[in-house]
Amino acid sequence: MNVHGAKTGFGKGPDAPIFSNKAQDDGDQFLYSRHTHSQFRENALTIHPYHFSIGAAGVANKDLRDWISEIEAAGELHKISGAEPKEDIGGIVDIVQRKMGNPALMFDDIPGFPKGHRVLSNLVTSTPRINLALDLPADASEMDLIQWWRSYMTDAPSIPPKQVNGGALLENVMEGGDVDLTSIPTPIWHEHDGGHFIGTACMVVMKDPDSDWINYGTYRMQVHEPDVASVMMSPGKHGRLIMEKYHARGEPCPVAAVFGMHPALFMLAGLEIPYGKSEYEAAGGIFDEAIEIINMPKTGLPVPANAEIALEGYIHPDDEVVEGPLGEWTGYYAGGQRPEPAIRVETMMHRNNPVLMGAVPAVPPNDNTYYLGHYRCGAVWSQLEAAGVPEIKGVWAHEAGGSRFWLTVAIKQLYGGHAKQAGLVASQCLAGAYCNRWTVVVDEDIDPTNINDVIWSMCTRCDPREDVDVISGGWSSHLDPMCFDDETDRRNARVVVDACIPYRRRDTFPIVARNSPELDDRIRKKWAEVLPNSFVKGG
Ligand SMILES: Cc1cc2nc3c(=O)[nH]c(=O)nc-3n(C[C@H](O)[C@H](O)[C@H](O)COP(=O)(O)O)c2cc1C
Repeated sequence: MNVHGAKTGFGKGPDAPIFSNKAQDDGDQFLYSRHTHSQFRENALTIHPYHFSIGAAGVANKDLRDWISEIEAAGELHKISGAEPKEDIGGIVDIVQRKMGNPALMFDDIPGFPKGHRVLSNLVTSTPRINLALDLPADASEMDLIQWWRSYMTDAPSIPPKQVNGGALLENVMEGGDVDLTSIPTPIWHEHDGGHFIGTACMVVMKDPDSDWINYGTYRMQVHEPDVASVMMSPGKHGRLIMEKYHARGEPCPVAAVFGMHPALFMLAGLEIPYGKSEYEAAGGIFDEAIEIINMPKTGLPVPANAEIALEGYIHPDDEVVEGPLGEWTGYYAGGQRPEPAIRVETMMHRNNPVLMGAVPAVPPNDNTYYLGHYRCGAVWSQLEAAGVPEIKGVWAHEAGGSRFWLTVAIKQLYGGHAKQAGLVASQCLAGAYCNRWTVVVDEDIDPTNINDVIWSMCTRCDPREDVDVISGGWSSHLDPMCFDDETDRRNARVVVDACIPYRRRDTFPIVARNSPELDDRIRKKWAEVLPNSFVKGG
C-alpha cells in the first residue's frame, strides 16, 4: 500500500461547502460561490459586525505560538514554573479548569525534562480564547460565537491543504530505535488515570484506503512504551471506520498523530465533520487559506508543517494493548480499562522547545466540552429550523452538562404544541441526540444562557402532569454512567421539559415582576454616572 502519492488537493476545490453533501456531490456550488471568503466572515457575526483581518494567501499559517502570543497579550495566559508531571500539573489544571474564563496554563521547567519542553493546558475554556482561535474579536459574545458557527456551517468554503517543502516540525526527527515518546513531558492528568495520555488535544490523521479522503479526529492516546501508544476510537468514529477497512483486508493501518497545533485545527478535530470530508479542508475555511502540510516520511500522511509534535506508525490487525482508564468528559471513569488498538511508532518529530497541548476531560465544564457547546448550539439551532420549527430565539448547551446532557431552547411560541415540538426535535436531531438527558424549552423572554432564569421558568411555567416527557432508548455512550446496556447497544433515557407559559394562557398569565427592557434602558442611562459599571452593563 502506498500513500506517498496522496495528493494534497484531495477535495473538490475551494468553495465546496464542508457541511453539505449535496452541493459537493452534485458539483453544484452555486449557493456557496455567491459568498466570497470575506463575505463569509462578515456574515459570521450577524449580531455585532466587527471588522477583523483575513490571513493573506501564501503566508505561512498562524501556528500555536502565534495564538499563545495573542492570548498572552489579552491577559489570558498564566505561566507556571517547576510543577512536576505526576501530580502537580494535572492537579493544578483540574482546579483552574473548574471555572470557565480562568487563564490558559503554560508549564515550563518541568522536573526531569529539559527547560523549554512545555505543556499548555486549560486551552479553550474562555470565550476570548476561543474567539482569538477563530480570528474573531476577543470580546465577541457567546451568542456571537453561536451565530459564527451557524454561518460557518452554511457558508464556509472548504480549501484543500497545500504541501510545502519543510517546516519547523522537522527541527528534530527521530526514527526507529531513537523514537522516545517518554521524552515529551506528559502529565498524569487525574489521580486514577491508568497512564500518561499524550493525546488529549490531538489530531489523529488517517487516509481512507479507497479514496483520497484524509480524516483527522481527536481520539485519546496513551503512551505505553517509548515507541508504543494506543488510540481509543469509539464505534462509528471515522478513524475507527478507516482502520477497520485496512484490517478487513489484512493490512496494517497507517496513522499519524499531532500533539500541538493551532487551536482552530484542534477544535475541528473534535467536531463531527461529515463522513468523507476532510477536516484539513474545513480548517482552510476557518483560516481563509490552505493549511500548509508536510507528508510524514513512512506513511505519507499529512501533518501541519508548523505543528509542535507529531508521530507516525501503524496499527496492525489484532494488535491491542490494555488502555485506560481516563477520567472522561462526563466527569467519571465510566469507560474503565479495555483493550484498544496499539500504534507501533516508527517516526517522531518535534520543534525545538516543543509545546504539548492538553485538553483535559474532567467534571464538566471542562476543556474537552466547553468549546463544543457553542458549535452544538449553532448546529441544534440550524437543525431545528431545517426541521421546520419556527421562531427559535436561542439555544444553549449548558457547560455543566458537558455541552451535551443539557439543552435549553428559547422560542417565541406561535401555536399550541410549538414548545413540545421544539423540545422533542432538539433532543433527537443529529447535533442534540447523542448523550442528551435534559432538554428544556423556554419562552423568548428567558435568556437560555442564564441558568437561574431557566430554573425559574421550570419552577413557575411548567405543569409536570403534561409538560414533562420521558423518552427511553436514546443514543448514548458507555462514558455516560446512566447508560443502559453499555456493552452492546448503549442507550439512555431523557427528559423533555416544556417550561413555556401554557399557550392557552398566554394573555392571562400573571405579569412578570421585573423591569421591562425599556425601563432597564431608561434607568441605566439616567443613573450610569452614579452606579457601578456592572449595573450599567447589565451585570
Ligand atoms: C478533547 C476531546 C477528546 C476526545 N476524545 C475522544 C476519544 O478518546 N475517543 C473518541 O472516539 N472520540 C473522542 N472525542 C470526540 C471526537 O473527537 C469527535 O467525535 C470527532 O468528531 C471525531 O472525528 P471524526 O468525526 O472524524 O470521527 C474527543 C473530542 C474532544 C474535543
